[in-house]
Amino acid sequence: MKAIVVTDQAAGTSGMKLVERPEPQVPINDVIVQVHASGFVPTELAWPSTWTDRLDSDRTPSIPGHELAGVVTALGYGTTGLSLGQRVFGLADWYRDGTLAEYVAMEARNLAPLPGDVDFTVGASLPISGLTAWQGLFQHGRLQMGQSVLVHGAAGAVGSMVTQLAREFGAYVIGTGRAADRQTVLDFGAKEFVDLDNEALEDVGGIDLVLDSIGGDIGKRSAGLIRAGGTLVSIVGPAEARPDNGRAVDFVVESDRAQLSEIVQRVRDGRLRTNIGSISTLDDAVAALNSTERRKGKTIVRVRS
Ligand SMILES: NC(=O)c1ccc[n+]([C@@H]2O[C@H](COP(=O)([O-])OP(=O)(O)OC[C@H]3O[C@@H](n4cnc5c(N)ncnc54)[C@H](OP(=O)(O)O)[C@@H]3O)[C@@H](O)[C@H]2O)c1
Repeated sequence: MKAIVVTDQAAGTSGMKLVERPEPQVPINDVIVQVHASGFVPTELAWPSTWTDRLDSDRTPSIPGHELAGVVTALGYGTTGLSLGQRVFGLADWYRDGTLAEYVAMEARNLAPLPGDVDFTVGASLPISGLTAWQGLFQHGRLQMGQSVLVHGAAGAVGSMVTQLAREFGAYVIGTGRAADRQTVLDFGAKEFVDLDNEALEDVGGIDLVLDSIGGDIGKRSAGLIRAGGTLVSIVGPAEARPDNGRAVDFVVESDRAQLSEIVQRVRDGRLRTNIGSISTLDDAVAALNSTERRKGKTIVRVRS
């Protein structure tokens, strides 16, 4: 099969190569999925799990990509809830070969059915950004109706999902980002926008929940904006500052079949818009992933036309 591999962490996306690899086998509890579309998060080349296995041994050349939409072509012993030929989408294991390939082996529990009227590229854009937003707001953030939510990077892949889900839930949403993203963020449903390069974050106060996808100085300054009993949720590592009288939580997204179904249902009925920035083919993906243009939204690779 064709697959994109990485061997050199220092080279980043410029070290990616399109190669021939053997098709994966199907172990217990796994299914093989013929990948139709894959998502890619550029920061994944900085994650240790892209380069090593769980025992910290080198696993290069490794195949990146951890979210996909495709069709089940083989069922391993013990798999439940899926059938041959079924359209699926989901989140692949961080420590195994991923989804920038024609086939991937992954645990059945990490997949959910993809309804027939949802395009594979749309399905592939949802698992990481949609699940992260859902878990950040409702599990870790314990969002209550009517609360205020500050969403950093609100035009981004995760931020745009957070903005829409929080708005739908009845929160007052303030988005942040670059000046050029103001209208995009308001269109996703934020009531206010803070241009982090030119406007004072500190003018926003008394926030119940901050969802931080930027970190660094922005994350540190956000701790002081949280009202008593509020929460700072970081998806970019442990918070560097904690709210004086509130919670600080960091987490890594986990797969959840029921949440994937909730998310895709919202896309079907129009409550949630995908935020796909670019779609390339597998053959063109290395060049596309090395583009010098500013990325906007989710990066998708269409593996099968
Ligand atoms: N913990 C988890 O489970 C989890 C899950 C998903 C993602 N993540 C992490 O979350 C982060 C965001 O992921 P994503 O896929 O949403 O990325 P993305 O699509 O690039 O979104 C990030 C957004 O934030 C903006 N931004 C970044 N730094 C900024 C700054 N200093 N000032 C203003 N705007 C800024 C970006 O604009 P520019 O492009 O112009 O910088 C972009 O619009 C990544 O680090 C990713 O690894 C973590």
